[in-house]
Amino acid sequence: MKNNIPEHVAIIMDGNGRWAQAQGKKRTKGHKVGVDRAREIVEASVKLGVRCLTLFAFSSENWNRPEEEVSFLMELFIIALNREVKALNKNGVKLKFIGDIGAFNSKLQQSIVKAESITKDNDRLTLNIAANYGGRWDIIQAANQLIAETPGLSSVDETTLASKLVTADLPELDLLIRTGGETRISNFLIWQAAYAELYFTDTLWPDFDSSELEKAITIFSGRQRRYGLTGEQITKTEES
Ligand code: IPE
Ligand code: IPE
Ligand code: MG
Repeated sequence: MKNNIPEHVAIIMDGNGRWAQAQGKKRTKGHKVGVDRAREIVEASVKLGVRCLTLFAFSSENWNRPEEEVSFLMELFIIALNREVKALNKNGVKLKFIGDIGAFNSKLQQSIVKAESITKDNDRLTLNIAANYGGRWDIIQAANQLIAETPGLSSVDETTLASKLVTADLPELDLLIRTGGETRISNFLIWQAAYAELYFTDTLWPDFDSSELEKAITIFSGRQRRYGLTGEQITKTEES
């Protein structure tokens, strides 16, 4: 597993509700176990040498869920953050939230600011939690920053726009995983996924353990990323 470890892995952690319902439990139970799995995957990523892990925890569309589920998730985020920050810090994990954090309640915002500041000097793994994140929102907020900074701006290029996305300081996305059987992006890292390898699995998030991550990475390692070139051209550059 040493070779070809993706530098940046992102995961759409889907299937919590169905996992719980299949066991006759409330959807919220699935979210709770989902947090345990997130912890396991973070630890496994550190061990495998992944440098950057981005987890989709709450989309900008998830506000439309029943109010009871949304409040449960907010409470769960606060509890999990406060509980996990010490271990994350010990493991050399730098925590960063990406998304429109201003929409969360002040208690959650405080926990976020605190956790980010405690872990800010760590460099073993950058853990991005995408919360109230949407890929279209990301592109729009980047464009708006540029407009605000440069009055009269008439055009932008890819590099300039990318420099304002929430992922600006992060390595390129290599591998995008979605659990839970759906084969869609659901407005996650739509710009950043342009050349990412996609990996879809039917495994529901509460069942996605470290061996499932290793499996995804092994499959990633066996793929040839061609970026528009021919297979022969890639083999030649690899040989030289
Ligand atoms: C993903 O699991 C977690 C969040 C969106 C917060 P779901 O809650 O979407 O689970 P399913 O897809 O309904 O099973
Ligand atoms: C995507 O899952 C968001 C997260 C995993 C946080 P959803 O379950 O909300 O996506 P859709 O609604 O099935 O597309
Ligand atoms: Mg879902």
